[in-house]
Amino acid sequence: MRPPRGITLLQGLSGLEASLAPWRSRRGGLGLVPTMGALHAGHLSLVAQSRRRSACTLVSIFVNPTQFGPGEDYGRYPRTLAADLKLLSGQGPLIVLAPSAADMYPAGHATRVSVESPLAQVLEGAHRPGHFAGVATVVAKLLSLAGPCTAFFGEKDWQQLQVIRRMAQDLRLPAKIHGCPIIREADGLAMSSRNAYLSAGERALAPRLKASLDLALARLKAGDSGAAACRKARAFLERGGHFKAGYLVLADAETLQAPRKGKPRRLLAAAALGKTRLIDNLAA
Ligand code: PAF
Repeated sequence: MRPPRGITLLQGLSGLEASLAPWRSRRGGLGLVPTMGALHAGHLSLVAQSRRRSACTLVSIFVNPTQFGPGEDYGRYPRTLAADLKLLSGQGPLIVLAPSAADMYPAGHATRVSVESPLAQVLEGAHRPGHFAGVATVVAKLLSLAGPCTAFFGEKDWQQLQVIRRMAQDLRLPAKIHGCPIIREADGLAMSSRNAYLSAGERALAPRLKASLDLALARLKAGDSGAAACRKARAFLERGGHFKAGYLVLADAETLQAPRKGKPRRLLAAAALGKTRLIDNLAA
Protein backbone atom coordinates (compact mmCIF):
# COMPACT_ATOMS: atom_id res chain seq x y z
CA MET A 1 0.00 0.00 0.00
CA ARG A 2 1.35 3.46 -0.97
CA PRO A 3 0.96 6.00 1.82
CA PRO A 4 0.26 9.72 1.23
CA ARG A 5 3.24 12.11 1.17
CA GLY A 6 4.76 12.83 4.59
CA ILE A 7 3.85 9.38 5.93
CA THR A 8 6.25 6.48 6.25
CA LEU A 9 4.25 3.25 6.35
CA LEU A 10 5.77 0.18 7.97
CA GLN A 11 3.70 -2.99 7.76
CA GLY A 12 6.14 -4.94 9.92
CA LEU A 13 8.69 -4.22 12.63
CA SER A 14 11.80 -4.29 10.45
CA GLY A 15 12.93 -0.80 9.54
CA LEU A 16 11.19 0.73 12.55
CA GLU A 17 14.31 1.65 14.49
CA ALA A 18 15.98 3.08 11.36
CA SER A 19 12.89 5.26 10.77
CA LEU A 20 12.72 6.45 14.38
CA ALA A 21 16.43 7.04 15.00
CA PRO A 22 16.79 10.39 13.16
CA TRP A 23 13.96 11.88 15.24
CA ARG A 24 15.12 10.85 18.69
CA SER A 25 17.60 13.68 19.12
CA ARG A 26 15.31 16.33 17.58
CA ARG A 27 13.65 18.91 19.82
CA GLY A 28 10.38 17.44 21.13
CA GLY A 29 11.52 13.90 20.37
CA LEU A 30 9.05 11.23 19.50
CA GLY A 31 5.29 11.11 20.09
CA LEU A 32 3.46 7.78 20.10
CA VAL A 33 -0.25 7.42 19.35
CA PRO A 34 -1.29 3.78 19.79
CA THR A 35 -4.56 2.95 18.01
CA MET A 36 -6.50 0.00 16.67
CA GLY A 37 -7.29 1.92 13.48
CA ALA A 38 -10.75 2.83 12.15
CA LEU A 39 -9.56 6.33 12.89
CA HIS A 40 -11.90 9.21 13.68
CA ALA A 41 -11.65 12.78 14.95
CA GLY A 42 -10.84 11.49 18.45
CA HIS A 43 -7.68 9.80 17.16
CA LEU A 44 -6.81 12.84 15.07
CA SER A 45 -6.95 14.97 18.21
CA LEU A 46 -4.31 12.67 19.76
CA VAL A 47 -2.15 13.07 16.66
CA ALA A 48 -2.65 16.85 16.82
CA GLN A 49 -1.54 16.90 20.47
CA SER A 50 1.50 14.83 19.56
CA ARG A 51 2.37 17.11 16.63
CA ARG A 52 2.27 20.09 18.94
CA ARG A 53 4.77 18.51 21.34
CA SER A 54 6.91 16.15 19.29
CA ALA A 55 9.26 16.31 16.31
CA CYS A 56 7.68 13.23 14.77
CA THR A 57 4.69 11.04 15.62
CA LEU A 58 4.57 7.27 15.48
CA VAL A 59 0.97 6.11 15.00
CA SER A 60 0.45 2.40 15.54
CA ILE A 61 -2.52 0.72 13.94
CA PHE A 62 -2.98 -2.76 15.32
CA VAL A 63 -6.16 -4.60 16.26
CA ASN A 64 -4.67 -6.36 19.26
CA PRO A 65 -6.10 -9.89 19.59
CA THR A 66 -5.02 -10.35 23.21
CA GLN A 67 -7.33 -7.64 24.55
CA PHE A 68 -10.49 -9.23 23.13
CA GLY A 69 -12.28 -11.93 25.06
CA PRO A 70 -14.01 -14.97 23.54
CA GLY A 71 -17.21 -13.91 21.79
CA GLU A 72 -16.11 -10.24 21.59
CA ASP A 73 -15.77 -8.31 18.33
CA TYR A 74 -12.15 -9.07 17.35
CA GLY A 75 -13.22 -10.67 14.06
CA ARG A 76 -15.53 -7.87 12.99
CA TYR A 77 -13.56 -4.93 14.39
CA PRO A 78 -13.26 -2.46 11.46
CA ARG A 79 -9.94 -2.66 9.60
CA THR A 80 -9.64 0.37 7.34
CA LEU A 81 -5.93 1.02 6.74
CA ALA A 82 -6.31 2.83 3.39
CA ALA A 83 -8.93 5.21 4.80
CA ASP A 84 -6.87 5.67 7.99
CA LEU A 85 -3.81 6.72 5.96
CA LYS A 86 -5.94 9.19 4.00
CA LEU A 87 -7.22 10.71 7.24
CA LEU A 88 -3.66 11.05 8.51
CA SER A 89 -2.39 12.81 5.39
CA GLY A 90 -1.18 16.33 6.08
CA GLN A 91 -0.42 15.43 9.73
CA GLY A 92 3.25 14.59 9.06
CA PRO A 93 5.96 13.92 9.78
CA LEU A 94 4.37 10.63 10.65
CA ILE A 95 5.50 7.05 10.83
CA VAL A 96 2.59 4.64 10.70
CA LEU A 97 3.28 1.19 12.09
CA ALA A 98 0.70 -1.36 11.00
CA PRO A 99 2.14 -4.74 12.00
CA SER A 100 0.44 -8.11 11.72
CA ALA A 101 -0.51 -10.25 14.71
CA ALA A 102 2.42 -12.53 13.81
CA ASP A 103 4.81 -9.55 13.96
CA MET A 104 3.61 -8.59 17.42
CA TYR A 105 3.09 -12.13 18.75
CA PRO A 106 5.49 -14.41 16.84
CA ALA A 107 5.55 -18.13 17.55
CA GLY A 108 6.99 -18.69 21.01
CA HIS A 109 5.82 -15.34 22.38
CA ALA A 110 5.07 -16.14 26.01
CA THR A 111 5.10 -12.91 27.98
CA ARG A 112 2.08 -11.15 29.38
CA VAL A 113 2.06 -7.89 31.31
CA SER A 114 -0.62 -7.86 33.96
CA VAL A 115 -1.35 -4.91 36.24
CA GLU A 116 -2.13 -6.65 39.52
CA SER A 117 -4.05 -3.81 41.08
CA PRO A 118 -7.70 -3.55 42.11
CA LEU A 119 -7.68 -0.69 39.60
CA ALA A 120 -7.64 -3.24 36.77
CA GLN A 121 -10.15 -5.61 38.35
CA VAL A 122 -13.23 -3.42 38.58
CA LEU A 123 -15.58 -2.01 35.91
CA GLU A 124 -14.15 -2.95 32.48
CA GLY A 125 -11.75 -5.37 34.17
CA ALA A 126 -14.64 -7.21 35.84
CA HIS A 127 -16.73 -7.25 32.67
CA ARG A 128 -13.84 -8.22 30.36
CA PRO A 129 -11.49 -10.62 32.19
CA GLY A 130 -8.00 -10.51 30.66
CA HIS A 131 -8.74 -7.33 28.72
CA PHE A 132 -6.34 -5.07 30.60
CA ALA A 133 -3.56 -7.66 30.54
CA GLY A 134 -3.94 -7.67 26.74
CA VAL A 135 -3.85 -3.86 26.66
CA ALA A 136 -0.89 -3.64 29.06
CA THR A 137 1.05 -6.25 27.10
CA VAL A 138 0.63 -4.58 23.73
CA VAL A 139 1.19 -1.06 25.06
CA ALA A 140 4.33 -2.16 26.93
CA LYS A 141 5.55 -3.66 23.70
CA LEU A 142 4.74 -0.55 21.65
CA LEU A 143 6.43 1.66 24.24
CA SER A 144 9.45 -0.61 24.16
CA LEU A 145 9.57 -0.38 20.35
CA ALA A 146 9.17 3.40 20.43
CA GLY A 147 11.79 3.99 23.12
CA PRO A 148 11.82 7.35 24.94
CA CYS A 149 8.64 9.16 23.90
CA THR A 150 5.47 10.87 24.98
CA ALA A 151 2.50 8.56 24.43
CA PHE A 152 -0.99 9.97 23.88
CA PHE A 153 -4.17 8.16 24.96
CA GLY A 154 -7.81 9.28 24.90
CA GLU A 155 -9.66 9.84 28.16
CA LYS A 156 -12.69 8.05 26.71
CA ASP A 157 -11.01 4.86 27.91
CA TRP A 158 -10.42 6.39 31.34
CA GLN A 159 -9.74 3.16 33.18
CA GLN A 160 -7.37 2.00 30.44
CA LEU A 161 -5.46 5.28 30.81
CA GLN A 162 -5.04 4.70 34.57
CA VAL A 163 -3.92 1.09 34.00
CA ILE A 164 -1.36 2.23 31.42
CA ARG A 165 -0.06 4.96 33.73
CA ARG A 166 0.37 2.38 36.52
CA MET A 167 2.14 -0.06 34.18
CA ALA A 168 4.50 2.58 32.74
CA GLN A 169 5.36 3.81 36.22
CA ASP A 170 5.86 0.33 37.69
CA LEU A 171 8.10 -0.78 34.82
CA ARG A 172 9.89 2.60 34.77
CA LEU A 173 9.36 2.82 31.04
CA PRO A 174 10.97 5.91 29.51
CA ALA A 175 7.62 7.28 28.39
CA LYS A 176 5.44 10.17 29.47
CA ILE A 177 1.80 9.15 29.39
CA HIS A 178 -0.44 11.99 28.26
CA GLY A 179 -4.24 11.78 28.57
CA CYS A 180 -6.27 13.77 26.01
CA PRO A 181 -9.87 14.98 26.41
CA ILE A 182 -12.78 13.01 24.95
CA ILE A 183 -13.89 14.24 21.53
CA ARG A 184 -17.67 14.18 21.14
CA GLU A 185 -20.16 14.30 18.31
CA ALA A 186 -22.35 17.43 18.27
CA ASP A 187 -25.05 15.55 20.23
CA GLY A 188 -22.63 14.52 22.99
CA LEU A 189 -21.86 10.94 21.97
CA ALA A 190 -18.20 10.16 22.67
CA MET A 191 -16.39 9.31 19.45
CA SER A 192 -15.46 5.65 19.20
CA SER A 193 -14.63 3.26 16.37
CA ARG A 194 -17.38 1.01 17.75
CA ASN A 195 -20.04 3.67 17.04
CA ALA A 196 -19.90 2.30 13.47
CA TYR A 197 -21.76 -0.79 14.77
CA LEU A 198 -24.85 1.25 15.70
CA SER A 199 -27.94 1.12 13.47
CA ALA A 200 -29.50 4.49 12.56
CA GLY A 201 -32.10 4.01 15.30
CA GLU A 202 -29.47 3.11 17.89
CA ARG A 203 -27.29 6.03 16.83
CA ALA A 204 -30.18 8.39 17.51
CA LEU A 205 -30.54 6.93 21.03
CA ALA A 206 -26.82 6.72 21.81
CA PRO A 207 -26.35 10.26 23.29
CA ARG A 208 -28.50 9.15 26.23
CA LEU A 209 -25.39 7.58 27.77
CA LYS A 210 -23.65 10.97 28.07
CA ALA A 211 -26.96 12.55 29.13
CA SER A 212 -27.18 10.05 32.00
CA LEU A 213 -23.69 11.06 33.18
CA ASP A 214 -24.72 14.73 32.93
CA LEU A 215 -27.76 13.90 35.06
CA ALA A 216 -25.62 12.15 37.68
CA LEU A 217 -23.31 15.18 37.79
CA ALA A 218 -26.26 17.55 38.18
CA ARG A 219 -27.65 15.41 41.03
CA LEU A 220 -24.24 15.41 42.78
CA LYS A 221 -24.12 19.20 42.47
CA ALA A 222 -27.64 19.34 43.90
CA GLY A 223 -26.41 17.49 46.98
CA ASP A 224 -27.28 13.85 46.27
CA SER A 225 -24.91 11.17 47.53
CA GLY A 226 -22.88 9.36 44.86
CA ALA A 227 -25.07 6.26 45.19
CA ALA A 228 -28.33 8.22 44.88
CA ALA A 229 -27.08 10.28 41.92
CA CYS A 230 -25.92 7.15 40.09
CA ARG A 231 -29.16 5.28 40.85
CA LYS A 232 -31.26 8.09 39.34
CA ALA A 233 -28.95 8.39 36.32
CA ARG A 234 -29.08 4.65 35.73
CA ALA A 235 -32.88 4.63 35.89
CA PHE A 236 -32.91 7.48 33.37
CA LEU A 237 -30.50 5.60 31.09
CA GLU A 238 -32.54 2.41 31.12
CA ARG A 239 -35.94 4.13 30.77
CA GLY A 240 -37.50 3.08 27.47
CA GLY A 241 -35.73 -0.28 27.57
CA HIS A 242 -33.10 0.42 24.90
CA PHE A 243 -30.01 0.60 27.10
CA LYS A 244 -28.91 -2.08 29.52
CA ALA A 245 -26.45 -0.52 31.97
CA GLY A 246 -23.36 -2.52 32.93
CA TYR A 247 -22.30 0.05 35.50
CA LEU A 248 -22.80 3.71 36.25
CA VAL A 249 -20.64 4.69 39.21
CA LEU A 250 -18.83 7.49 40.95
CA ALA A 251 -15.24 6.48 41.65
CA ASP A 252 -11.87 7.84 42.62
CA ALA A 253 -10.40 9.11 39.35
CA GLU A 254 -7.03 7.40 39.82
CA THR A 255 -7.77 4.16 41.65
CA LEU A 256 -11.31 3.56 40.32
CA GLN A 257 -12.21 2.47 43.85
CA ALA A 258 -14.52 4.30 46.27
CA PRO A 259 -14.06 8.09 46.11
CA ARG A 260 -11.44 9.49 48.51
CA LYS A 261 -12.03 12.75 50.32
CA GLY A 262 -10.40 15.68 48.53
CA LYS A 263 -9.26 13.58 45.55
CA PRO A 264 -10.52 13.92 41.95
CA ARG A 265 -13.58 11.82 41.17
CA ARG A 266 -14.92 10.40 37.94
CA LEU A 267 -18.36 9.27 36.85
CA LEU A 268 -18.03 6.21 34.63
CA ALA A 269 -20.64 4.29 32.70
CA ALA A 270 -20.88 1.31 30.37
CA ALA A 271 -24.07 0.14 28.72
CA ALA A 272 -25.23 -2.14 25.95
CA LEU A 273 -27.32 -0.58 23.20
CA GLY A 274 -28.50 -3.49 21.10
CA LYS A 275 -25.37 -5.55 20.45
CA THR A 276 -22.99 -2.62 20.94
CA ARG A 277 -21.35 -1.84 24.24
CA LEU A 278 -20.67 1.86 24.80
CA ILE A 279 -18.55 3.44 27.52
CA ASP A 280 -18.21 7.05 28.64
CA ASN A 281 -17.03 9.08 31.62
CA LEU A 282 -16.99 12.56 33.08
CA ALA A 283 -14.98 14.46 35.70
CA ALA A 284 -17.02 14.88 38.88
O1 PAF B 1 -7.49 2.27 23.05
C1 PAF B 1 -7.13 1.50 22.12
O2 PAF B 1 -7.40 1.74 20.93
C2 PAF B 1 -6.36 0.23 22.46
O3 PAF B 1 -6.80 -0.33 23.64
C3 PAF B 1 -4.84 0.44 22.47
C4 PAF B 1 -4.42 1.41 23.56
C5 PAF B 1 -4.37 0.96 21.11
C6 PAF B 1 -4.14 -0.89 22.74
O4 PAF B 1 -4.45 -1.83 21.77
